[in-house]
Parts: sequence; C-alpha cells; structure tokens
Amino acid sequence: MLITGANGLLGKDITLCFTGRYEILPTDLPECDVTSLRECMRAVGDYSPDVVVHCAAYTAVDRAEGEEEAAFTLNAGGTRNVALACREHRSLLVTFGTDYVFDGTSDRPYVEDDPTGPLSAYGRSKLAAEEALREVAPDFLLIRTQWLFGHYGRNFASSILERAERGEELRVVSDQKGSPTFTRDLADAVGRLLEADARGVFHFANEGETTFLDYATFLLAHGGKGESRLSPLSTSDLPRDVYPAARPLYAVLSKEKYRNISGVAPRRWQDAVLDYLGGRDGKDRA
Ligand SMILES: NC(=O)c1ccc[n+]([C@@H]2O[C@H](COP(=O)([O-])OP(=O)(O)OC[C@H]3O[C@@H](n4cnc5c(N)ncnc54)[C@H](OP(=O)(O)O)[C@@H]3O)[C@@H](O)[C@H]2O)c1
Repeated sequence: MLITGANGLLGKDITLCFTGRYEILPTDLPECDVTSLRECMRAVGDYSPDVVVHCAAYTAVDRAEGEEEAAFTLNAGGTRNVALACREHRSLLVTFGTDYVFDGTSDRPYVEDDPTGPLSAYGRSKLAAEEALREVAPDFLLIRTQWLFGHYGRNFASSILERAERGEELRVVSDQKGSPTFTRDLADAVGRLLEADARGVFHFANEGETTFLDYATFLLAHGGKGESRLSPLSTSDLPRDVYPAARPLYAVLSKEKYRNISGVAPRRWQDAVLDYLGGRDGKDRA
C-alpha cells in the first residue's frame, strides 16, 4: 500500500491502521509531490502497490477562496496524476471526498447519488477531483467524509480544547449540522471496504448528527474544560474576512450504503470523541 499525504491528519492514522496488515510506503512532501505527474508515475511505478491511499490534499477551506487555482492544482490535478499512475500500474485507488460538494439544502442525510452543488472554492476543487477520478481511474474507491478529528493535525476538536486551555471566550456556530468523524474510525472503515472489495462512492462519518456548538459543548464538558465560556453564533454573523468560504448548513451524510456493504454501523460520534479525549490524556501523560 502506497499512501500519499501520509503526514497529514488522516494520512497518519491510515499509516498506523495498515502497518502490519500491508507492506506500507508512506509518502508526503517533499519526496512525492502529487502535483507532479512524473513523481506520481515514479513513486507508483517503483513500488508497484496493490492499493494507493491518496490523502494528500489542499484542505484550507477559507484560504482556498483567494487561492482557487492552487486548490484545483492540488485537489483536481493531484488526484488526476495519482489516478493516471494507478491506471498505468494497475493499482486500486482509494481517496477521500467531502460533504462540501453539497449545497446543504437537503432535509435528510445526503446519499451518494444526490446532486452536488458546492458553495466554496474548496468544494468545487474537490468535486473536480471526483470528476478526474471517474474520468481516469478504472478502479477506485471514493469515501466522502466530514468534520475530521484526530491526534495528528489541527482540527476543530483540538483547536476548541487549545483555545479553552488559554482561557479564551469561545463563540461557535450553532446552525451548521454534520457529524464529527474520528480519523481512526475512518481508517478502520477503509479496511472494511477493502475487505468487502467495495468500489465506487461511499459516505462515512461517525453516527448521529450535531451542530458545531453542541459538539464544542460536549468536547469541553468531557475534556475537563466545562467551566469555559461558550456562546452561540449564527453562520451569517461569522466575520467574512476571516471565514470567506460559504459552508453547507446541513451536511449530514447517510451511512446506509457503508453499513450494507460492511455489515457494521459506525459508532456514535460521542463515543468516538470520548475515545479521542482518552487518547489525548494518554499522550499528555506520556
Ligand atoms: N479534515 C477534514 O475535516 C476533512 C473533511 C472531509 C474530507 N477531508 C478529506 O480527507 C483527506 C485528508 O485530509 P486531511 O485533513 O488529513 O488533510 P491534511 O491534514 O491537510 O493533510 C494533507 C497532507 O498532504 C500533504 N500535501 C500537501 N501538498 C502536497 C503535495 N503537493 N504532494 C503531496 N502531499 C502534499 C500535506 O503536507 P503539508 O502539511 O506540508 O502541506 C499533508 O501532510 C483530503 O482529501 C480532504 O479533502 C478532510
């Protein structure tokens, strides 16, 4: 298994999850830049992996509004390059999509075939990555996910806990709905989909839905920061100079297709967050 973006939030947990199960080649910048077709061809050609797990991406959602070309080059161009290398060397390509390809107006969880309608430059670049994948790779697994948290990179959970630690007053949006997703659970889901020989598009997130405000409240209550000052904010009140990207208000993903093929339901987001918080304590003690 060759992994791109292996030092990122998800890439690290993918690497840890599959170490011992596969022979692994984790790659990241600078040794394998996925915006270079030549480097992708070389990396995949030299290693001849059965599977490439492509985690490298441009993920700075707000910055992308002013850098749409850079987001497209990495997300759409990088995915196209990895897909071409996988086609050439007959490797299965596994990669990740986002709830930001949807416009957030649904009144029920999004299923894999629902029409897309990204609201942001990041969302458009990830949709273009999906299109490149469909066009190029004969054999792919695309897992759309959302609201990732984990131990190996900045994310909403780590930033809320760090800001509470500094005693900051927190204002958090109360009108965007989705499902927090532990990177470790997503890595486990990749394993289950591979075992089931799945192909095509799947949605995966932890089970249950919440708002960022209720998610933050839960994190603080169970992360030993229950006394923190937390107040609600509506999306329309977010400062546009700091948060220029529009986000889907309702972004819950249906996990039914994943449950049917894997035979397993994702665990509830609250259980995953408690597991994460326990791991953070362990890391702190170590
Ligand atoms: N985070 C979320 O909440 C979320 C939600 C939905 C979907 N996703 C998707 O999940 C996947 C993984 O996201 P993530 O949060 O783990 O991202 P991440 O933490 O930003 O990790 C991306 C990794 O790719 C590396 N990278 C950047 N440019 C590269 C290049 N040109 N060539 C090779 N590697 C490069 C980054 O290195 P540097 O750090 O040095 O730039 C980083 O190690 C992405 O497809 C993302 O769109 C994420």
